[in-house]
Amino acid sequence: MTDPAPPLVRFEGVCKRFGETVAVDGVSLDIAKGEFFALLGPSGCGKTSLMRMLAGFEAPDTGRILLDGIDIAGLPPHLRPVHMMFQSYALFPHLNVARNIAFGLRRQRMPQAAIASRVEEMLALVRLEGLGGRRPDQLSGGQKQRVALARAIAPKPSILLLDEPMAALDRKLREETQLELMALQRRLGMTFMIVTHDQDEAMVVADRMAVMRAGRIEQVGAPREIYDHPANAYVAGFIGETNLLSEGDRWRAVRPEAMTLSTRPQEGARAGTIAEIAYFGDRTRYVVAAQNARLVVSRANVGAPLALSVGDAVWVSHAADAGALVSP
Ligand SMILES: Nc1ncnc2c1ncn2[C@@H]1O[C@H](COP(=O)(O)OP(=O)(O)OP(=O)(O)O)[C@@H](O)[C@H]1O
Ligand SMILES: [Mg+2]
Repeated sequence: MTDPAPPLVRFEGVCKRFGETVAVDGVSLDIAKGEFFALLGPSGCGKTSLMRMLAGFEAPDTGRILLDGIDIAGLPPHLRPVHMMFQSYALFPHLNVARNIAFGLRRQRMPQAAIASRVEEMLALVRLEGLGGRRPDQLSGGQKQRVALARAIAPKPSILLLDEPMAALDRKLREETQLELMALQRRLGMTFMIVTHDQDEAMVVADRMAVMRAGRIEQVGAPREIYDHPANAYVAGFIGETNLLSEGDRWRAVRPEAMTLSTRPQEGARAGTIAEIAYFGDRTRYVVAAQNARLVVSRANVGAPLALSVGDAVWVSHAADAGALVSP
């Protein structure tokens, strides 16, 4: 039997403190070659710190980081086949677009002609043909973002680290960019690791994701696995909205779309009154004030709408096996 190929990246019990702050607290994680991996978690949970250690800008206090099975502790950042794109794009303001994209290639001492052709290839890839001569301040936010991406991809790193790459884009551009990133990643067969605050974004782009809390990983899995089978109440509440209903000494986490709303009493249903109604076009979200609970119900807007107003009496139920049983 042959051993399976090692993961592209392996974090092994990695810890990092800054003074009293434990930024990363014993993270072990494998990322496969060609994977689009998302790191998710609230502000300050250690996402950027984890990436900075992989890029070589910080060293772990304990634990190891392996790339293709080899410990990279001794490698300085510029010798790692890892590129990190920062929260702000950090384009060089005095260099035009082409020279920004060429930056990493010059550092690699690529011949001039090869640089020129790689820059053209990258401009086409991010659909900025003809804009190589512009300075960053002559570009829109979305164009700057694409230049930063082209600059990051040009040296063909084994893994591209994207720290909140879309934070500065408006929603429409963000959604377009998400799809472009996914297409680009597939086309290049590169490995992407993305940090995002936005759980919807992570679910759209990622093959797998890790949910972090206070320096630790709470769960790793495909978006669908995590959404349908959250490991605990924290993950259930962090990824999407959820109703936590007590069941014995555990909780049943039931998604709003798995709850049913009725205007008549139903066997086993909880009685309550409508506290909020929010219309989203494709669905309507109801908040129901029930005894000791605030229940959220999401209903697809197909067929006849429910004639409901705030204050109306309703009954909320779910299938006995809906959602997942989780520990607190
Ligand atoms: N250089 C540093 N010196 C001191 N503390 C730091 C340093 N870098 C990070 N920290 C602290 O470590 C913790 C984790 O920070 P980190 O930047 O990794 O969080 P994050 O998950 O990326 O947050 P955000 O989503 O806000 O970017 C925070 O409490 C932060 O204040
Ligand atoms: Mg960060």
